[in-house]
Amino acid sequence: MTKTYRSRDCDTYRMDYHAPHRELEPPDREIGVVQEALEALREAGVLPHTEYDHGKMLAHRKAARELFEIPWTAITPRMQRLLYAVNAILQPENMIAAGIFCGFTFISNAGAAVGPGACYQAKELLGVEIKPQEAERAERNVRRIDPTGVARIVAADAVDVVRDFQGPIGALYLDADGPPEKGKGIYLDILQAGYDRMPPGSVVMAHNSVNCAGRLKQYLGFVHDPANFRASVNVILDPEGLEVSVR
Ligand SMILES: C[S@@+](CC[C@H](N)C(=O)[O-])C[C@H]1O[C@@H](n2cnc3c(N)ncnc32)[C@H](O)[C@@H]1O
Repeated sequence: MTKTYRSRDCDTYRMDYHAPHRELEPPDREIGVVQEALEALREAGVLPHTEYDHGKMLAHRKAARELFEIPWTAITPRMQRLLYAVNAILQPENMIAAGIFCGFTFISNAGAAVGPGACYQAKELLGVEIKPQEAERAERNVRRIDPTGVARIVAADAVDVVRDFQGPIGALYLDADGPPEKGKGIYLDILQAGYDRMPPGSVVMAHNSVNCAGRLKQYLGFVHDPANFRASVNVILDPEGLEVSVR
């Protein structure tokens, strides 16, 4: 089953990439739009329910705002809330985020299990970044929120890390932009490297499902094929979008 959730104002809801913490709308509006998106995911069978702790989400947001060095990000407050909520609801034991730049996208996922927003205990949460300097900064950022090491950054090619990962992958978050000839098309390589270790109920989340849809054509064809994924929802609550697919 493939489906699209589109908020009424997805085209006009815009952020300044250099001011990631600026409030873009009243909190009730943000919560309402994300709730609609979660409901669409529940109806498609991607999520079992839509409940998450709003107070813990805000504690997570506050920690990221205060502790993270973020040169820029395209993760809107709605997307941050959505990523946190999906992880809080599914509670994956292992999660890998590929192409995490300064780590903000990674912690938006991992923050459901570590730091002040934690609502469950995870085993291994990996953020993978191919540029060593970015990986270093991301690791510094993550250590400030999670001293335990459950969440950590690996400086490597995500295709290799996902291929070599031992054990089930409960959630895979894709945000890497490959070499110019490939761009976001690398998502399919990363997914296929770990597909055989994604158990039933596991999810893959692909950022930029809207603004990079052209480059993601093959990827989207793969996750929309019912032989590969049970359901897939394009969640369009901002101009970037997130395709969420469940095995
Ligand atoms: C555009 S950034 C993602 C930023 C994110 N959307 C945000 O708004 O914060 C993509 C990152 O993927 C990294 N990357 C590219 N290819 C990769 C690969 N094969 N493995 C891991 N990281 C990769 C790049 O170095 C870059 O930091």
